[in-house]
Amino acid sequence: METNINPKITLVGAGPGSKDLITIRGLKAIESADVILYDALIAIELLDMVKKEIPSIYVGKRCGQHSFTQDDINILMVKNAFEHGHVVRLKGGDPFIFGRAQEEIDYAESFGIPVTVVPGISSVIAVPESQGIPLAKRGESSSFWVMTATKKEGSFSEDLKYASRSSSTMVIVMGIRKFKEIVTEVNKYRDSNTPIAIIQNGTFEDESCVITTLADAIEKDFTFDISKPGIIVIGKVVSEHPSFLNEEVMRVLHSAL
Ligand SMILES: C[S@@+](CC[C@H](N)C(=O)[O-])C[C@H]1O[C@@H](n2cnc3c(N)ncnc32)[C@H](O)[C@@H]1O
Repeated sequence: METNINPKITLVGAGPGSKDLITIRGLKAIESADVILYDALIAIELLDMVKKEIPSIYVGKRCGQHSFTQDDINILMVKNAFEHGHVVRLKGGDPFIFGRAQEEIDYAESFGIPVTVVPGISSVIAVPESQGIPLAKRGESSSFWVMTATKKEGSFSEDLKYASRSSSTMVIVMGIRKFKEIVTEVNKYRDSNTPIAIIQNGTFEDESCVITTLADAIEKDFTFDISKPGIIVIGKVVSEHPSFLNEEVMRVLHSAL
């Protein structure tokens, strides 16, 4: 039977959180979608931009909610492309930054479905920036190193050690659950006065930020809501954060008592 369905998939980077941090190209893709598969870390208001009645399917992987495996998502994507036509796969930040985009592309292409990627503003840059923290700054940090602290099987990545030994700004994603272990590891190689920031739900209305130092992070009991996405930034540039100076004064006063 002949159908006029033309299966295709667009992986769209939805940006770091706030609904107005998606690109114009990303918005156009949403407007032309026949079905949307969306992740947990996107602004839900983006679904209101869809001009027609189309299925929007949540395929998030956040803890505490029903989780879709990568295989489930791949199958859903292909099935919907054959049934509806244009699938927009709306992904948090940029699709290629820890976003498993290549797996989705390979799977779809194995069925002969063409895939296009629309870049997004990644949280790794936008979230620190939203707190006034520049990842690179002339005279202070000439590089930044973006990493996930742990490997697939859960052990620490060697990169954590190599980055800690360098003077690079460190940006660690998916590390909130292992915060204490991460700072303890980094502290083996970096000055314990190195400032750090922990930013959660960045660019969303309830964005939060804790500024501290490696030493304090190890000594004190910081607790974080692990259901919220968070980024850890480690390096001198964190001292650019407006509250760093106040925190520093408090630390000095406290240690003098
Ligand atoms: C699977 S990675 C995906 C990253 C995404 N592709 C990007 O480019 O932003 C998810 C991790 O990104 C970080 N992340 C994403 N959005 C965030 C946000 N709005 N605030 C803080 N961290 C965020 C967190 O570390 C989270 O665990």
